Amino acid sequence: MKKLIGLKKTKTAVFISGTGSNLKNLIKFSNTKKSPISVNLIISNTKKAKGLRYSNKYNIKKKIINFNNNMIAEKKILDFLIKKKIMFICLAGFMKILSKNFIKKFKGKILNIHPSLLPKYKGLNVHKRVIKNKEKISGCTVHYVSTQLDSGKIIMQKKVKIFKNDTAISLAKKILKKEHELYPAAIRKILN
Ligand code: GRF
Repeated sequence: MKKLIGLKKTKTAVFISGTGSNLKNLIKFSNTKKSPISVNLIISNTKKAKGLRYSNKYNIKKKIINFNNNMIAEKKILDFLIKKKIMFICLAGFMKILSKNFIKKFKGKILNIHPSLLPKYKGLNVHKRVIKNKEKISGCTVHYVSTQLDSGKIIMQKKVKIFKNDTAISLAKKILKKEHELYPAAIRKILN
């Protein structure tokens, strides 16, 4: 019975470059009955990504792709995605920019999580900039990936309050916690 339910889940690849707390969270989510996805592949652009440890821990195939040449890298990724019958992609702290060509091939099937209330604070060093600007509220966003950086259609957001004693580090921590609620919720919103 469980196997039958499992078969209905959309096969998903998670792309990472770092710690992988969102990856771990998505794997745990995907192992629940209510999840519409199963994480079947982890892609990283670097062997140094700490999140790669979850490949062994949860028995999920991993591929480390060298991005010295973007076109070759994306071709390799596409081959793996086809081989593993992957239909959905979650970017989770993936630090490489995918080409228009790649994004078009997976139109509407690539999500990203960003640690700000988009369209505010696109790009890097978000929390530092937010604190510097003395914002009172920040948060996180899950959005479709489009050919413009951090600009695809927004699926869901969660807000956090910023207090006077917050630093970029404390804010990052608070937001990451919210991210772990938001990513599964956004996936359920569009795939259920
Ligand atoms: C998260 O803050 C995410 O929003 C951003 O990169 C960070 C990745 O964290 N895109 P982790 O590797 O999932 O812990």
